[in-house]
Amino acid sequence: MEVIIRKDAASAINLTAEILADAITAKPDLVLGLATGRTMENLYDNLVERHKNEGLDFSLCKSFNLDEYIGLSGDNENSYRYYMNHFLFNRVNIDLRNTHLPDGATEDLDGEGERYEQAIADAGGVDIQLLGIGRTGHIGFNEPLSSLMSRTRQKALAPVTIEQNSPLFDNPEDMPKRAFTMGVGTILDSGKVIMLVTGKEKAEILAKAVEGPVTAMISATALQLHPNTVVICDEEAAELLTEKDYYKWIFDNEPEWEKYRNLK
Ligand code: GLP
Repeated sequence: MEVIIRKDAASAINLTAEILADAITAKPDLVLGLATGRTMENLYDNLVERHKNEGLDFSLCKSFNLDEYIGLSGDNENSYRYYMNHFLFNRVNIDLRNTHLPDGATEDLDGEGERYEQAIADAGGVDIQLLGIGRTGHIGFNEPLSSLMSRTRQKALAPVTIEQNSPLFDNPEDMPKRAFTMGVGTILDSGKVIMLVTGKEKAEILAKAVEGPVTAMISATALQLHPNTVVICDEEAAELLTEKDYYKWIFDNEPEWEKYRNLK
């Protein structure tokens, strides 16, 4: 795992977008693992700008999102399908047929996870998985005690998560209490992981995720087991990390980061 600390959210987002854009340019048929949440909204705006101004080409990309609320169909404004169409897919030249989320409206609740896993496998696996982190330390919707080997499945949401996300619903009571989510094991199978974390309210959980012991209580700690994970955060989210100077030294000295050092 590497941790890159940028001075503010805008530069953490810009670095994440730059890495993604470089990856898409190097491999136009990249399989992207995508995430939702407030943190990602500005990232998707940044990618849309790059599409418009620099010709960043999504036409051959495929995507698989982490999760979807159970009981919401794609035309529901609070579904993650709606979010993705709104913030990214409808604003770039990705082929909608190549964009995938679990089907929140399916009647086959037990079969959906297996179907989704097969679709990921058929696409050759996820090349780069983008992640945020929830207040419980969840990645996707892998709430505390999710098996670190779990696969895509339905999951009951923790009260803290319901409290975190229900304000996004017109009527907070309407927030589903269950979701489909890629498993921790599914996420660990991706070629590279980028976790983007901004804001002081994430400082405590980020310190536990990065520097604490690996535990099923905090599914993001499983990323310590992944051979190619980079955490990109701002100063506020990094505040409680104990080894900040070391992480900064790596960014300032390792050749792989040279081209990104002067990025705004
Ligand atoms: C939801 C998503 C997570 C996301 C989290 C953080 O719970 N399932 O994938 O990381 O929100 O959201 P925010 O960026 O709004 O803090």
